[in-house]
Amino acid sequence: MSAVLSGAITGPSYLKNRKLKAWVADVARLTQPDRVVWCDGSQQEYDRLCDELVAAGTFRRLNAAKRPGSFLALSDPADVARVEDRTYICSETKDDAGPTNNWVDPAQMRATLNGLFTGSMRGRTMYVIPFSMGPLGSGISQIGVEISDSAYVGVNMRIMTRMGRAVIDALGSDGEFVPCVHSVGRPLIGNGKRGEKDVPWPCNSTKYIVHFPQTREIWSFGSGYGGNALLGKKCLALRIASTMARDAARVDGLGWLAEHMLVVGVTSPEGKKYHIGAAFPSACGKTNFAMLIPPATFAGWTVTTVGEDIAWIKPGKDGRLYAINPEAGFFGVAPGTSEKTNRNAIATLREDVIFTNVALTDEGDVWWEGMGPPPAHLIDWQGKDWTPEDGKAGRKAAHPNARFTVPAAQCPAIDDDWENPDGVPIDAFLFGGRRSTTVPLVTEARDWTEGVYMAATMGSETTAAQAGAQGVLRRDPFAMLPFCGYNMGDYFSHWLALGARLANNGVKPPQIFTVNWFRTGDDGKFVWPGFGENMRVLKWVVDRVEGKASGNEHVFGVSPRYEDMEWNGLDFPRAKFDEITSIDLDDWRKEIRSHTELFAKLAGRLPPELGDTKCNFAQRLGE
Ligand code: GTP
Ligand code: SPV
Ligand code: MN
Repeated sequence: MSAVLSGAITGPSYLKNRKLKAWVADVARLTQPDRVVWCDGSQQEYDRLCDELVAAGTFRRLNAAKRPGSFLALSDPADVARVEDRTYICSETKDDAGPTNNWVDPAQMRATLNGLFTGSMRGRTMYVIPFSMGPLGSGISQIGVEISDSAYVGVNMRIMTRMGRAVIDALGSDGEFVPCVHSVGRPLIGNGKRGEKDVPWPCNSTKYIVHFPQTREIWSFGSGYGGNALLGKKCLALRIASTMARDAARVDGLGWLAEHMLVVGVTSPEGKKYHIGAAFPSACGKTNFAMLIPPATFAGWTVTTVGEDIAWIKPGKDGRLYAINPEAGFFGVAPGTSEKTNRNAIATLREDVIFTNVALTDEGDVWWEGMGPPPAHLIDWQGKDWTPEDGKAGRKAAHPNARFTVPAAQCPAIDDDWENPDGVPIDAFLFGGRRSTTVPLVTEARDWTEGVYMAATMGSETTAAQAGAQGVLRRDPFAMLPFCGYNMGDYFSHWLALGARLANNGVKPPQIFTVNWFRTGDDGKFVWPGFGENMRVLKWVVDRVEGKASGNEHVFGVSPRYEDMEWNGLDFPRAKFDEITSIDLDDWRKEIRSHTELFAKLAGRLPPELGDTKCNFAQRLGE
């Protein structure tokens, strides 16, 4: 190791944390970077890193008149989404990870990682990125430190988290943090030769996204994209945090929840405010719902954004559940975002955005499918010329999982309490997948257990957010299939126990609803207009919370009848409503039978209440 390097390893003068110092030195010894940079989170540092990314060809600066302070990155075509089949939960035993997670014995995985990370940063800069998930100083927040050899990760983490010196200060000499090691896995010096030329988007065809829940460590190798690389997000705030949340129950008898949920505030014309947490799988509408703009006829109703991807939810002093958004930015799906579908997102994206894998216009601005009519010429996400003719031939200009990284504070609908360290009180939970058939527009579960059953057995057709085939129906319990850091059966038990304990403490747990915006008609098109019109469902939900709205009780719970919904301003005939709310008993017999597969997989750890609930449903269906 060079003298220059060992000097930098000791870190800035304000660094007091012994464990952090020692760990950074260990990782530098292993990965052998040329330089170490401790990120302070300042604007100057952000600007400098962006300039370096432009010089390296990773970033292209967008037209300052059209998109001030913004950049476009085009990834390697083989590194465009989360890699679920390369994601591991390495708990002590396979059973603790459970059948829905990939597992390798921790000792064996450590040996593999040791090999992969040895010299993996040679010729590169190693960035030390201290971050807080949640507002610094909140009792719900957690601190992490990501070591990465990617400046792209550094600048994205500054937007997505509270990043920089304040975090090191908060750590003090003995504070705890979650160590996260990330390498793109493409050293610039190898096989004895120096100075190999870099590529704009370095990555490796071998990828490992690894979590050690017992020691609360994260190791990520080979990918620079999204949740694979921005380790505060899915790796810490969901996989590690879900484990922390469950473990906390062993200490205080309650624990907490780390969920793949948006959180919105809904204020009625009477000025009463409700908060809803909603879990939809990746690319199934969380960002859109979190920024919902009510139809013009909903005078006096406002919807405000607390979060759009992750919620940490804890019992507060009054015993109710309170949610914080652990993130500071949005890493949202670009395609489909338009003035019509999400005016708030478009306004959020006016300036200071990092776009990844969208198309570039001749004016130096961005374009994606669903934004509006395509310009006559574009550079597509692979850097190739593109015209509307290519579009007609089925070639997309933006990758379907193209994303924007943008500070949450730029959202015009951001909730006044989005950084409240105590969080916001939750009144209801929504769960919804992408289901072209079977599942009705909205159903309220009769009780917590039936709600947990509905969430546990949620199905969704896969999207571009995960590598692999799209449109395949799979069970995605609680929208957490790729994100639960422990045995899914235990996770169901944790939810059941939390509800029961709230009730024991005299607190009514939030009502649980399932929704589905994605029923298709014979023409294959979505029947429900969705987006802002989802306000109609949200209003029924809020009215149910108030005990004001009626509905029709059926086998699975309560759904609104046509006359229970507010239709002012929308021409949506009763026949269409019936099409998306009718319950086909044959379809549902098949559906319930198909839950057997999931339950059989989880056998051993499946809470008996869910098996019993399944029997009750089957009986009501005459099975
Ligand atoms: P992640 O960031 O991947 O966790 O996903 P997300 O749930 O935040 O996804 P997002 O809101 O960005 O979903 C984008 C996709 O959902 C696009 O294809 C949208 O067109 C579609 N979408 C969102 N809301 C609706 C809706 O109400 N109806 C229909 N039909 N599609 C919707
Ligand atoms: C998701 O896939 O659910 C995302 C995007 O929110 S990523 O951070 O890449 O996982
Ligand atoms: Mn997500």
